Amino acid sequence: MSAVELDCVAKVYPNGTVAVSELSLSVDDGEFMVLVGPSGCGKTTALRMVAGLEEITSGTIRIGDRTVNQLAPKDRDIAMVFQNYALYPHMTVAANIGFPLQLHGVPKDEIARRVDEAATLLGLEQLVDRKPGQLSGGQRQRVAMGRAIVREPSLFLMDEPLSNLDAKLRVQMRAEVARLQQRVGVTTIYVTHDQTEAMTMGDRVAVMRAGLLEQVDTPQALYDDPDSLFVGAFIGSPSMNLYQARLDISGNASGSIELGGQKLGLPADVLTSRPGLQRYKGRPVVVGIRPEDLSEEDGRSESDGGRLKADVLLVEALGSESLVHFDLGVPIFEVEGTRSAVEDQGDVAPHLAGIGGTARFGPRTTVAVGTAIGLRVGTARLHFFDPADGRAIRD
Ligand SMILES: Nc1ncnc2c1ncn2[C@@H]1O[C@H](COP(=O)(O)OP(=O)(O)O)[C@@H](O)[C@H]1O
Ligand SMILES: [Mg+2]
Repeated sequence: MSAVELDCVAKVYPNGTVAVSELSLSVDDGEFMVLVGPSGCGKTTALRMVAGLEEITSGTIRIGDRTVNQLAPKDRDIAMVFQNYALYPHMTVAANIGFPLQLHGVPKDEIARRVDEAATLLGLEQLVDRKPGQLSGGQRQRVAMGRAIVREPSLFLMDEPLSNLDAKLRVQMRAEVARLQQRVGVTTIYVTHDQTEAMTMGDRVAVMRAGLLEQVDTPQALYDDPDSLFVGAFIGSPSMNLYQARLDISGNASGSIELGGQKLGLPADVLTSRPGLQRYKGRPVVVGIRPEDLSEEDGRSESDGGRLKADVLLVEALGSESLVHFDLGVPIFEVEGTRSAVEDQGDVAPHLAGIGGTARFGPRTTVAVGTAIGLRVGTARLHFFDPADGRAIRD
């Protein structure tokens, strides 16, 4: 096992494409680090540079205590799992798993022992004599994992290993892969474009955008405290509701934001906990509201100003909760590169993406399409961003 360190690593392809810019990232020994971001943001390139399959243009990569910039892939003590995990169709499961060891001239009985171990770990004991053609997609994926594990590498690199599986199997396999990694404890860098996969699997998640690292933190910290509009919009499903609004601050105590003709009151503690907001007095900000921070106004509570009126466009009853899609009369604030990723996951009614917003209500809500409702806003959990540079406004 080894820690991995990327220090100002960049990749410019010969055609001039800057795929990765100044990427600095430390992966702890035994950690499961996920690289996530939209297609084309440089994830695969970053991973291939760690593997040694792509030369780095500048910077330093260390695995354990070695600088590996000049080291051939075979000398880096890594194992990779790709999206297209080509298994040899004419070989049995056991032979497929043991193949890398055979290549390295490991003695036969030792191969048998290690294959056995890997097969047991992966629940493939009963299938070792089968050929890949006689396996399900999930089982084949497990064989590919077995081929990586059997080498007992100090680092796993995985590039979208689950994207060829159907949705249900993908959910099951992501739990399996995460559990497996915990058991073998090998440092892992895992690439995906799917934020749900990233959130559920990673000890920490590094969000990339256009060759740059946006933010790296635990899944919960990324969700609760995004550094940028991009991370706020990219992480979470249904995604954060984002609107451009004008911020008014009266004296020092409290304030409000104007959202398409409606006024949303901001209690004093919202402002005191984000001193940076004072600089935006009378100016536009982007305000972010997570769907679960909007609740159904029950009419009984005192109006504290944290309330918006909305027209209900659609109610999706999911059994455990209802997603209420609404229109506030304000266009949502679009963040480039985040929309398609959300639609990919199929959790958003596609014809509604782009208008209004979404609230998470309880399963037995009685709100009806076509009516106007009151939304209570959890103002303490609002997010604020600079509309120009997209940075979170805090201090
Ligand atoms: N061999 C290559 N030559 C030139 N450009 C490339 C090459 N491989 C990838 N790219 C470009 O580099 C950028 C990052 O690609 P990639 O690392 O594959 O992104 P991701 O894995 O996040 O989808 C993209 O713009 C892609 O078109
Ligand atoms: Mg890729």
